[in-house]
Amino acid sequence: MRRKRRIGILTGGGDCPGLNPAIRAVAKTAIFCYQAEVVGFKDGFEGLIKNKTKKLGWEDVSGILTLGGTILGTSNRANPFAYGEGKKDVSPIALKNFRRLKLDGLVCIGGDGTFHIAHRLHQLGMPVVGIPKTIDNDLERTDYTIGFDSAVAVATESIDNIHTTAESHHRVMIVEVMGRYTGWLALYAGVAGGGDVILIPEIPFDMKKVCQELLRRSKIGKRFSIVVVAEGVKPAGSGLVIKRKVKGSTDPIRLGGVSYRIAEQIESLTGLETRVIILGHLQRGGKPTEFDRILATQFGKKAVDLVMGEKFGWMTSRQGDKIICVPIASAITRLKKVKPNSPIVDAAKAMGTCFGD
Ligand code: F6P
Repeated sequence: MRRKRRIGILTGGGDCPGLNPAIRAVAKTAIFCYQAEVVGFKDGFEGLIKNKTKKLGWEDVSGILTLGGTILGTSNRANPFAYGEGKKDVSPIALKNFRRLKLDGLVCIGGDGTFHIAHRLHQLGMPVVGIPKTIDNDLERTDYTIGFDSAVAVATESIDNIHTTAESHHRVMIVEVMGRYTGWLALYAGVAGGGDVILIPEIPFDMKKVCQELLRRSKIGKRFSIVVVAEGVKPAGSGLVIKRKVKGSTDPIRLGGVSYRIAEQIESLTGLETRVIILGHLQRGGKPTEFDRILATQFGKKAVDLVMGEKFGWMTSRQGDKIICVPIASAITRLKKVKPNSPIVDAAKAMGTCFGD
């Protein structure tokens, strides 16, 4: 009789809604369709390095479809190729631990940072498969990553809610959303929430044009304006506004706060009272949306099929309405950026939305 096949799974990098539905989908497909066993690594690659595991049976993944976060825990510091203060290469330990568990494959659910590590482990012979997640939606070769839609929903609801107080006080309200190097979240939430101005890293903006638009609105009797800002925008004459650097992280830069600079400039150039709301980690909290639950379910199922078909070094991907797979290596060569002439930017501009360009 053939021995039971065994699949490992971990979640790496920043958490987001949709990870648990993906864990559930991997485990249920493995158990139900392949009678396989599933082993979860705790806290991302930390679990692989430190041998922290948890067997995932049917009951362990039952009832987590609607749950945010990750039942496995995650880490954005545990890099087996540069581990701890001394940035030691402990990849041989990770490989040894993996082999000792007699796993047939490792499903890594992560973004750019996690996939750089997964790709290197694959080059060393580890049979990895990827499932893309990040609220930033900035991973190449897939239209959507798990978590993006849920973050858009949180940000959109916040923009909706800010309208009443903006209107009551006749203020400019800046809503700053995450998105380190790309403006997907700001763009989608800005369009869905009817932002009057949307500022994203891919479209350099001129502060004078932004202020002209705010004054124009004020002159025609619009007593408030909503400005949606991606944390990664660079106002003229300034680079990224870095809040802190996280030692040992695959990408140590943490942003947040550029909106205060933008608010000061708006107040001094227009005289309009301006307030700032930074949504921060709220965007990674809460329940996954229906879209993310479905995407995670499809990705999870596909990832197990890839492991069973021994298609290692590949990740699941959604292109159009198809769930396909692409080499992990092809998704990490550069970040997926918003095209300034994309249909969604075009449509927003047709509504009169200002991008400051
Ligand atoms: O990459 C996802 C992300 O949420 C970014 O949008 C944000 O800049 C960063 O992670 C925040 O990271 P941390 O959770 O370490 O503060």
